[in-house]
Amino acid sequence: MIKKSNPTLTKIVNILNDGQYHDGTTIGDHFGMTRSAVWKMMQKLSQHGIKITSIKRRGYALEEPLILLDRNKIRAELDLEKEKIELFLYESLSSTNDLLAEMPKKKGIKVCIAEKQTKGKGRLGRNWYSPFGTNIYLSCLYPFQKDISELAGLSLVVSLAMVDALRSYSQLNGFCVKWPNDILYDGKKVAGNLIEVQAEAHRVSNAIIGIGLNVNMQQDERQITQPWTSMRSILGKYIDRNKLCAIMLNSLIKHLQQFNQYGFEHFIPQWSETDCLTNRHVVLKNLDKKVEGKAIGVNEQGHLLMQLKSGKISAFSSGETSVLKK
Ligand code: BTN
Repeated sequence: MIKKSNPTLTKIVNILNDGQYHDGTTIGDHFGMTRSAVWKMMQKLSQHGIKITSIKRRGYALEEPLILLDRNKIRAELDLEKEKIELFLYESLSSTNDLLAEMPKKKGIKVCIAEKQTKGKGRLGRNWYSPFGTNIYLSCLYPFQKDISELAGLSLVVSLAMVDALRSYSQLNGFCVKWPNDILYDGKKVAGNLIEVQAEAHRVSNAIIGIGLNVNMQQDERQITQPWTSMRSILGKYIDRNKLCAIMLNSLIKHLQQFNQYGFEHFIPQWSETDCLTNRHVVLKNLDKKVEGKAIGVNEQGHLLMQLKSGKISAFSSGETSVLKK
């Protein structure tokens, strides 16, 4: 079920975020709500998995820090073409990519962000674990003046935009891309992207670019099988996702504009300095095939170049890479 975000819930959570107890009547008076309406909000948060303690006569307190997404805070930090970006914020939905795919097509850039996804999608048919109020689940519908065939390399460009945003937010250089689109820090995945394209009229293609970024998720989460990390683990503190969302969007849209204008070739130098695989021995898995070799960068289409044991250099357009520990 699709639920729009509720600005009052966001404000109540801001009050509770000082870690103190606040009673239902005082919170209610603040927003012109009854005590039982406040209780319902607390129930809603609990249903989403947020831990709340309640003590008679003292009220409610959050067990863990929590700052919800706020459309106004995100918009205020956007530095490009604000008027041309439609921004939708949801409390819960199946997948931000699917929501944009189902929206009527109008001109312009649309962005959908959610606090929780019930059917978050990862690459290669995997699920993307998307608990409430914890991470960033963001999709952007971008109309390119290009045929679908010219969108090769887009997912690499999106990865570059993500790394730029994370480096600038954290002031840490350790973020890199494992071809084609896993963002790693210290060898562990912190983010990924999933792109779905729809052909429109002649030389117009809509790309739905979905970004999943682990922000405040803690290591006790057992739902994810591959090695992963989060911005909170990297930086050692709870993160307000609003600013990070805006930095991510600014970087994404800047990179998409440049890709629309100049294509992937323009990004090859940036790729070389962001790629985790160059000169490493890797295995590339594609369906049931495995190829081993030394990764030596990408070509103008963004295909992975590998030097095979025979010395031959081959280009690969899809698959999943892992580094061989030798
Ligand atoms: C990957 O497997 O690395 C890609 C993960 C992409 C997840 C994001 S979260 C926002 C958007 N909506 C989805 O259902 N998936 C993408």
